[in-house]
Amino acid sequence: MPQDVWNSELQDVLDKASVSLNYSIDHVVEIRAEVRRGVEDLEKELETLKLEVVEVIEANDSVGIAYRKARVNLAQAAERQDNAAQAKAYEEAEHYMKLKGSFEERERNLRRRRDEVERERVRLERILTRSEETMSKLRLAMEILKNRLEDMNQLGTERDYKMVALALRFAEQENLRLARDIHDGPAQQCSGAILLLDHMQKNLQLGRGEQAFQEADRLREQLKDALGEFRTFLLRLKPVGLDLSLEKGLSRLAETLKERYGVEIAVTLQGRPDSLPSMLRVNLYRIVQEATMNAIRHGRARKVQILGSFGAETVSLKVVDDGIGFDVHAEHVKAQERGSYGLTNMEERARFAGGSFRIESAPGRGTIVSLSVPVGEV
Ligand SMILES: Nc1ncnc2c1ncn2[C@@H]1O[C@H](COP(=O)(O)OP(=O)(O)OP(=O)(O)O)[C@@H](O)[C@H]1O
Ligand SMILES: [Mg+2]
Repeated sequence: MPQDVWNSELQDVLDKASVSLNYSIDHVVEIRAEVRRGVEDLEKELETLKLEVVEVIEANDSVGIAYRKARVNLAQAAERQDNAAQAKAYEEAEHYMKLKGSFEERERNLRRRRDEVERERVRLERILTRSEETMSKLRLAMEILKNRLEDMNQLGTERDYKMVALALRFAEQENLRLARDIHDGPAQQCSGAILLLDHMQKNLQLGRGEQAFQEADRLREQLKDALGEFRTFLLRLKPVGLDLSLEKGLSRLAETLKERYGVEIAVTLQGRPDSLPSMLRVNLYRIVQEATMNAIRHGRARKVQILGSFGAETVSLKVVDDGIGFDVHAEHVKAQERGSYGLTNMEERARFAGGSFRIESAPGRGTIVSLSVPVGEV
């Protein structure tokens, strides 16, 4: 899946997760409010129950006193053998005893209910504590998610910005190189051709047909050369075949350079280079193009090998030449000082694609340019 599609899918998943996390947090908040109301109700009931228990105990105590008094009356009436008083006291004692029994039962019921309410209150308090923990976990998850989303957006903009800045710099440098190379190459050849044409005209005026004829031959060669150079420039401006695949692009590059400079160029690719993202394809092509041109122009190579290995996760490429080689560090510094960025740009392209880049060379030894980049990157 291309990186930008993957990023937006990921963003979508994170957005949805954040919505459902928010929903869960709201839900827990609601549950907590309800439980807290339940606890408050229970606390009110508990207060009333406690008061009622006290009232019943007090009432029971007074009944107890009245009962004991009735028993004393009963005993005294029995001693006096006062039958009427005895019967009354007996009735009173029985009445207070029943009352006492019912008060005691009420007290037992109230105490039972009070214990139940107390247990329920403790249970709800425990739910509140647990929900508090759940809330802080959810809030933490939300915070992490929010930071992650911000990081991703930040990453996106930073990455986009770097990409645009790099692309603009490459474009500007390439314009300068083209201007310089056209000036030093085909423009010089064309002014040479005009000079030859002037000579030819003069020789014709003076009737020196033989010389004019030789100049016409040299003129044709010079123009053919200039045309060849223009073709190479066209390939630099628009790589032929690269829109189809890296394989086609590289083989067209090899053919053109073979034809133009008479160099032997072999392209050997393993794996499937066709399925690469277009941005990566262009980057790889530009690196190989620069390495090959350097091999021909500076290394005066007779033979160049372009080797590629395309795995599911990594692409590795090598450009090996049998040229004169060079002191990499020293020449790189010199090149940068005079405003030549071929080596720098190759390295930046590889690093920007998230990969590694290396040049191995020494005077008299040929040159190997190698790089390895992950396929998922730009
Ligand atoms: N394959 C090579 N063989 C020999 N010398 C090389 C090779 N590649 C690079 N160099 C040396 O390194 C220098 C720097 O190369 P670089 O590509 O940065 O600049 P350039 O080719 O001179 O200019 P530009 O690439 O901007 O047209 C070259 O001028 C050359 O001296
Ligand atoms: Mg160069």
